[in-house]
Amino acid sequence: MDLVTLASTLLFAVIIAKVIRPWLFKKSQDRSLGLPPGPPRLPMFGNLLQLGQLPHRDLASFCEKYGPLVYLRLGSVDAITTNDPDIIREILLRQDDVFASRPRTLAAVHLAYGCGDVALAPLGPHWKRMRRICMEHLLTTKRLESFVKHRAHEAQHLVQDVWALAQTGKAVNLREVLGAFSMNNVTRMLLGKQYFGVESAGPQEAMEFMHITHELFWLLGLIYLGDYLPIWRWVDPYGCEKKMREVEKKVDDFHMKIIEEHRKGKRKETGSEEDGDMDFVDVLLSLPGEDGKEHMDDVEIKALIQDMIAAATDTSAVTNEWAMAEVIKHPRVLRKIQDELDSVVGPNRMVTESDLPHLNYLRCVVRETFRMHPAGPFLIPHESLRATKINGYDIPAKTRVFINTHGLGRNKAIWDEVEEFRPERHWLAEGSRVEISHWSRFQDLAV
Ligand code: HEM
Repeated sequence: MDLVTLASTLLFAVIIAKVIRPWLFKKSQDRSLGLPPGPPRLPMFGNLLQLGQLPHRDLASFCEKYGPLVYLRLGSVDAITTNDPDIIREILLRQDDVFASRPRTLAAVHLAYGCGDVALAPLGPHWKRMRRICMEHLLTTKRLESFVKHRAHEAQHLVQDVWALAQTGKAVNLREVLGAFSMNNVTRMLLGKQYFGVESAGPQEAMEFMHITHELFWLLGLIYLGDYLPIWRWVDPYGCEKKMREVEKKVDDFHMKIIEEHRKGKRKETGSEEDGDMDFVDVLLSLPGEDGKEHMDDVEIKALIQDMIAAATDTSAVTNEWAMAEVIKHPRVLRKIQDELDSVVGPNRMVTESDLPHLNYLRCVVRETFRMHPAGPFLIPHESLRATKINGYDIPAKTRVFINTHGLGRNKAIWDEVEEFRPERHWLAEGSRVEISHWSRFQDLAV
């Protein structure tokens, strides 16, 4: 045996010992651990290479093949995925104390002030405090109702704009019109200003805001390989982490500007505040801080505003656009909505928010839109705080949980004709009110 052959044989033996043996060993360990079933995986990468451009579709096909609860190994991270209402109920309701936390991803560190927000923060006293602020001061019924007139104003402008555009005989770009409508509603509530239309902050600031929001939403939704393969971060071939740092800086500058404007009362001088309504930034600036401090820290305020922008803007715009696209594609549905509007609202006035409880068919249309086109294909990932069991399978501590909302809405075990937009499927036999949220039947809620 010459030296080269000896060296290659030794190298091969080392590879077997270092890589393949632990992998084989892991398989038998899996069985003794009793992990849920899942696709075979490669050493080091696990199942990462089986995920393509549309990971929600890949994960849904694993659920079809291996069952409602699937185990995956993503690089160095244990993960489970599901599109099944019973398993989702087990994770989010029955075992909420185990799964209420979030993984510390690089996007959360860079884009949510070091996980100092509410949506991406791990479970703990900081998260509890931030969540309490949201529930007691920002997302209260009273506060949301205080923006009713702003929303009505925006809706009126939307109708007038579309009418005026339609008179020119040219095509109306609904993405632009609905995007501006959603964005104005959200920014009026959060920041006290509208970005599009006659009383807007100006086209340059609007473009800047739109651009930052889309970049933020895109980076937050990405499955970034650096979170699963630490070695990837050394190379970062697509410059993802660099991009995160750039967006982090841009977003922080934007938030600082907004806070300074509010502190100086600039908005009030321009007369954009009506009847003493407070926007979210005003509210946060007025609250006391932790440990007897007079005010909340700027970082805390920025983290909450960041969450609200990311959670509210694209979700609303995308959902409105899908609903309109489906209604236009289905004239039968359009006619039924118009008939309902004629009988509940009549021809002589605009629809108001107080009409919404009585527009049951429209509510079915909203639910069907959520089923087929959830704002994001997954819920924000959860993480188990300790080892537990689901359906008799072992789930290790720190397992990442991907709840596949896209897959839930297309789960053939629950829905028939999954690709068909059919609002009637949500109509209740006794004609009682169709709920859009806060319902315990997860199969009926795509979000
Ligand atoms: C069509 C519109 C919307 C849809 C479809 C939507 C959907 C969602 C979904 C799926 C989640 C993740 C839940 C989870 O992973 O547990 C979420 C979280 C959240 N959303 Fe919305 N959302 C919408 C509008 C809004 C608006 C307008 C706001 C605020 C004004 C908002 C504030 C939040 C917040 C703060 C969270 C994080 C909650 C937490 O982690 O405790 N969302 N939303």
